[in-house]
Amino acid sequence: MKIAVPAEVDLGEPRVAATPDTVKRLVTLGATVAVETGAGLKSGIIDADYEAAGATIAASAHDALAGADVVLKVRRPTTAELPDYKAGALVLAIMDPYGNEDALKALADAGLATFAMEMMPRITRAQVMDVLSSQANLAGYRAVIDASSEFGRALPMMMTAAGTVPAARCFIMGAGVAGLQAIATARRLGAVVTATDVRPAAKEQVESLGAKFVAVEDEEFKQAETAAGYAKPMSAEYQAKQAALVAEHIKKQDMVITTALIPGRPAPKLVTAAMVASMKPGSVIIDLAVERGGNVEGAVPGEVAQVNGVKIVGHLNTAGRIAASASQLYAKNLYAFLETMIDKQAKALAVKWDDELVKATLLTRDSAVVHPNFAPKVEGAVQ
Ligand code: NAI
Repeated sequence: MKIAVPAEVDLGEPRVAATPDTVKRLVTLGATVAVETGAGLKSGIIDADYEAAGATIAASAHDALAGADVVLKVRRPTTAELPDYKAGALVLAIMDPYGNEDALKALADAGLATFAMEMMPRITRAQVMDVLSSQANLAGYRAVIDASSEFGRALPMMMTAAGTVPAARCFIMGAGVAGLQAIATARRLGAVVTATDVRPAAKEQVESLGAKFVAVEDEEFKQAETAAGYAKPMSAEYQAKQAALVAEHIKKQDMVITTALIPGRPAPKLVTAAMVASMKPGSVIIDLAVERGGNVEGAVPGEVAQVNGVKIVGHLNTAGRIAASASQLYAKNLYAFLETMIDKQAKALAVKWDDELVKATLLTRDSAVVHPNFAPKVEGAVQ
């Protein structure tokens, strides 16, 4: 059982899919692990650390991947990478499958069994494998750190002999995993924190972190959560009421951090250009949803835009901006899933293809796209 950890080819991706800790655990399970030289450098892990944990260091991705039965990655392998992959290999990564059907077909054509870690069900057994949570949590923290470094003032109130510096007002839009961590971080730094969400369950969570909840709490709001705990798209009427409330609130804020997402859809637009224009110069907006279309009008992916002295920060891959911690948690998520596919007695791969975690994440297998969300529709099949 050979496991490969190639370096990420995307220059904007500093994370790595294995750490010395997970390598050690995989070796204990009977695997040989090949790490491409330099794969961990941007996460602060040098080749010698992997070697000390029991990995061999491969001079190239080609060498690392040769004969590998399992490949651990952060991002979906590009078509250019695929010729080095062995047909039949298992590949675990953040696959970003929506809207990328051609890429899925290429993975299928390469004969790979590919698993989209971000499709892991949010059930208790799979919490340790939940990459969305592990990465969103760090992104929420990092968003506040980024906001404070762009902000020309202090966050906590400071009473000094030379006068009082007021506490910054920080508004978090979307109180899921990233938003809750942003609330906690901004509170620790001494900001006055408010937050909004369309899911009623978020209210209590926001308040338990010491922030004030701001939302239109009508009948629609009370129903606005799917069985899986995600937000539903809201009606135009609700959105208008919410926008009016937010517009009043936002002009008094120094920092706004937006994290709102709806699975499988573009991010909802929550902050309009008029709202940005109403904010004080020197205020900072961080749009964590920028890669999914953005919550903020005027946010530019990968840039810090300036509108009337208001900074709109559109950093990409925010979890990657805290790469060492992100890699540590991501690698553990992958290990936890892969461990369920290994027979510990036989020290060999033994994938349970009918396991609910496998079925929920498996995109391609045996040269076909097999996931129900992406598999080609069969003519005449009952939908
Ligand atoms: P997400 O990343 O899909 O969305 C972020 C937040 O944006 C959500 O709280 C969502 O309600 C909110 N949002 C969407 N549209 C909005 C709008 N128009 N205005 C304001 N807010 C809006 O969500 P995430 O962070 O992945 O969490 C979703 C839920 O899943 C949460 O309840 C979380 O606690 C739960 N969860 C459960 C886990 C489990 O294992 N049981 C693990 C992780 C999360």
